[in-house]
Amino acid sequence: MTFSTKLVFALTAIPAVLAATLNVQVGAGGKLKYDPEYVIAAPGDVVNFTFNPKNHTVTQSAFNTPCVPLPGGASSGFNPVTANTNPLPTFQVHVTDTKPIWIHCEQANHCSSGMVFAINPPATGNTFDAFKKLAVAGGSSGSSAPVGTPYTSPPPPQWTIATATVTYANSVYTTTYTSYDGTPPPTPAAAPADHKILISDDGSFAYDPPHIQAAIGDTVTFEFRAGNHTVTQSSFQNPCVKFVDSQGNPGFASGFKPVASGTTTFPTFQIKINDTAPIWGYCGQTDHCGDGMVFAINSVESGPNNFVAFQQMAKNINGTAPLPTPTGKNSGIRGAAFMTPTGLVAAFALVFAVL
Ligand SMILES: *[C@@H]1O[C@H](CO)[C@@H](O)[C@H](O)[C@H]1NC(C)=O
Ligand SMILES: *[C@@H]1O[C@H](CO)[C@@H](O)[C@H](O)[C@H]1NC(C)=O
Ligand SMILES: *[C@@H]1O[C@H](CO)[C@@H](O)[C@H](O)[C@H]1NC(C)=O
Ligand SMILES: *[C@@H]1O[C@H](CO)[C@@H](O)[C@H](O)[C@H]1NC(C)=O
Ligand SMILES: *[C@@H]1O[C@H](CO)[C@@H](O)[C@H](O)[C@H]1NC(C)=O
Repeated sequence: MTFSTKLVFALTAIPAVLAATLNVQVGAGGKLKYDPEYVIAAPGDVVNFTFNPKNHTVTQSAFNTPCVPLPGGASSGFNPVTANTNPLPTFQVHVTDTKPIWIHCEQANHCSSGMVFAINPPATGNTFDAFKKLAVAGGSSGSSAPVGTPYTSPPPPQWTIATATVTYANSVYTTTYTSYDGTPPPTPAAAPADHKILISDDGSFAYDPPHIQAAIGDTVTFEFRAGNHTVTQSSFQNPCVKFVDSQGNPGFASGFKPVASGTTTFPTFQIKINDTAPIWGYCGQTDHCGDGMVFAINSVESGPNNFVAFQQMAKNINGTAPLPTPTGKNSGIRGAAFMTPTGLVAAFALVFAVL
């Protein structure tokens, strides 16, 4: 080999040798996010997207219209993934030049929640941050409420039921669930925990803490420290109205728990967490709910139906607060995770046997 043929060989070999696979997690941990949010790739590189549980897409868009599929652009289509799927589905984008490639998730409100991604975003001008801002500001194709429209409460959650097989404590259970964005996985905690919420400990009309995350099988103990309050289940749409399920069964309600001053043993009220759907509740004492005395368990704080939105609704609907200007839009896919009753009973029997 002459020097020059060696050089040509080396040069042509470079792209193949250096071509890299850049791995990106789609919706890991239930988050509406690509992780990392952008990559810098060379021609020949492959961006390898892995779809985590839920139902996401990898869809190409244009910088100016982040949430609209680009005609003729790359698209993975929807990848519904149930809990415990193994291996997870993947989708590859082959990078052929250094031009920016803009990506979003087509599912419901995911793009307007900031679920966007970029390959080779410029460091100035049309940056990744600018793209993400446009996505959040613009929302997904036409479904976001324009700023300034009259306030309306969000539509009721939509439930899509799915089943998954869960291996837990050496046993296999069938879990029925629907993918509620941002909720914990449809599996119980390794050991159930008890969460404490104090009521009116310092004389303020508040639950402390006002919102918590709890796993399936956990308990939440409310402790009434002062005043004359209740713990009453409601719904996101009607924060100050007793919850009744679709079969007409009432939600939980502690009733009034008056606490005399000087009391040292405080009344308590305990609930068990049976699924990962958000649980909403309020104090039924006159005017307390409208003053914002509400709580939430497993509210999805990354989405529009978060605790602050719920509390604001309570004040708007049942209090004196002015109607707000909507800032977010309402999310589409909603649901919860719960073990089938026999699975749940069996799973916890095992946990308690171990403890
Ligand atoms: C993509 O990532 C998955 C892991 O989620 C891995 O199993 C697979 O081999 C990767 N594919 C490529 C082409 O590197
Ligand atoms: C995934 O999402 C798409 C779009 O919302 C929907 O049409 C499809 O039915 C979903 N698939 C599953 C299995 O939930
Ligand atoms: C206001 O709250 C009370 C209970 O605190 C409830 O009975 C009533 O239905 C609520 N009103 C509205 C409009 O939600
Ligand atoms: C607690 O509040 C309820 C409802 O306002 C009232 O009926 C009850 O008498 C109160 N109890 C005490 C001890 O103040
Ligand atoms: C969980 O299920 C039990 C038994 O069916 C029920 O008493 C309890 O109220 C449920 N918990 C919640 C938060 O709905």
